[in-house]
Amino acid sequence: MDLGLSGKVALITGASKGIGLETARLLAAEGCDLALTARTAADLERAASDVAAASGRRVLPLTGDMSVTEDVESCVRAAIAEFGHIDILVTCAGSSPGGLLEDLGDEDWLASLSLKFLGYVRSVRAVVGHMRERGEGSIVLVVGNDGLKQSYWELTAGAANAADINFASSIAEQYAPHGIRVNTVNPGPVATDRWDGLETALARDKGIDKDQAHRLALRSLPLNRICTPAEVANVVAFTASPRASYLVGANIPVDGAQRKAIMDT
Ligand SMILES: NC(=O)c1ccc[n+]([C@@H]2O[C@H](COP(=O)([O-])OP(=O)(O)OC[C@H]3O[C@@H](n4cnc5c(N)ncnc54)[C@H](OP(=O)(O)O)[C@@H]3O)[C@@H](O)[C@H]2O)c1
Repeated sequence: MDLGLSGKVALITGASKGIGLETARLLAAEGCDLALTARTAADLERAASDVAAASGRRVLPLTGDMSVTEDVESCVRAAIAEFGHIDILVTCAGSSPGGLLEDLGDEDWLASLSLKFLGYVRSVRAVVGHMRERGEGSIVLVVGNDGLKQSYWELTAGAANAADINFASSIAEQYAPHGIRVNTVNPGPVATDRWDGLETALARDKGIDKDQAHRLALRSLPLNRICTPAEVANVVAFTASPRASYLVGANIPVDGAQRKAIMDT
């Protein structure tokens, strides 16, 4: 199926690794030009040149911290200056510390909210006026199924993700009349660096080794395996594309029917 993405311009935050990088590969293969953000310039530049070489598309690396408002705004300005406009925003720059309530300090909660919630709000805010003026745009927030269910080990992620989902549902209604579709994609466990770190932390908190932590993790997954970044990117690309033209304010789970959080098993 042709997704109708050829010639579109996408800005992807958190795109040097993991789900963001896989989304960049796929959108470029579908014919998009890209602006990619991350904090670590060397990783980002390598990712951008790999994606450009594989796809033949223009890929602009923009170093910036999405928990800093000025960085977010300057990345959006630079992307518009380079390409003239932005059709698609995908937010992937997020992380939230795992742990039990009595081990989490204010700094853990604030770190999660500042990046995973406010970073997404900042990114949308920086781009939505531009999309409204153009009368079109597609915004996909990669959030997480912790926002849709309870988990006593992923409290800070759950709170930030639930806030993202509420935010996205609200602005989806506000901006749909202006031709802007807003949706969220909500993975369960995905095999990325972030997931690796969470399994290490789970092993620490449960007093078990990492292989045991991994086997424990699989128990919550009916498919008995962790999702790949490409399996999330496929859903993100479709959601972002004109093929999903009547999809607005949806919160799409990509979690293999995981109903109990891995850490709580
Ligand atoms: N992996 C999972 O199991 C899973 C499950 C549910 C939801 N999610 C969500 O999906 C999104 C992507 O996760 P992932 O697993 O793909 O993560 P990842 O592999 O750790 O990659 C994170 C990307 O974001 C960048 N990043 C991190 N902090 C940033 C900041 N402050 N400003 C700008 N860029 C930043 C990283 O580069 P730098 O470090 O160089 O900045 C990297 O490019 C996150 O929001 C995550 O919460 C992941």
